[in-house]
Amino acid sequence: MNKYKNVFVFDHPLIKHKIAILRDKNTGMKEFRELVEEITTVMTYESMRDVELVPVRVETPLEVTTQYKVREESVAIVPILRAGLGMVNGVHKVFPTARVGHIGMYRDEQTFEPKEYYCKLPDGIENKTVILVDPMLATGGSAVDALDALKKRGCKNIKFMAIIGAPEGIKKVAEAHPDVTVYVSTLDRCLNENKYILPGLGDAGDRLFGTK
Ligand code: PRP
Ligand code: URA
Repeated sequence: MNKYKNVFVFDHPLIKHKIAILRDKNTGMKEFRELVEEITTVMTYESMRDVELVPVRVETPLEVTTQYKVREESVAIVPILRAGLGMVNGVHKVFPTARVGHIGMYRDEQTFEPKEYYCKLPDGIENKTVILVDPMLATGGSAVDALDALKKRGCKNIKFMAIIGAPEGIKKVAEAHPDVTVYVSTLDRCLNENKYILPGLGDAGDRLFGTK
């Protein structure tokens, strides 16, 4: 059970269906990539319910009306490399002109500690809503460090989206960054001795990019 006010677990039946296919070890790279993208698009719709709208004047064939549109330039996407890259197109389906920043993190295979190796963010990111994406929230180390990196560069309004979350990672992020809203599609059982999520889906980066 999720007890954190800043964490939302979607548990939507149609997302469950897609995640069941994603978890299957027999699902190939192309289908895996497509599913990550589709799930991300649905998550983006749900997580951006509070997106800022601006009034616009629209002429329908019948009359002039005031309607509301999103200020696309107010949103930036930041994937945690590598696996987060698989979610970028899914957010771009909703915000096609959103700028993209990149944060490179890898987990040390001995210590499981995240190491930052790259950070390049668009100008003005501090004034945008930042959607940080990574399919896997395991120990939470990578997400916490990526959020620290964004805040160090002035970002104030941040949402973090992961497809699968482990209880350990959710606790760590929710407690370290209570001002960040965290969205996961599903909450898994636990981590194994190698800090992989159970039941999980294996190594998301390898499955997205066909590496081993
Ligand atoms: C994976 C995943 C997350 C991280 C999660 O990346 O994409 O970034 O592990 O683990 P954590 O919550 O314990 O930090 P990985 O380090 O395998 O790098 P990759 O994306 O390049 O495959
Ligand atoms: N990173 C992954 O790709 N999978 C896990 O289960 C944990 C971390």
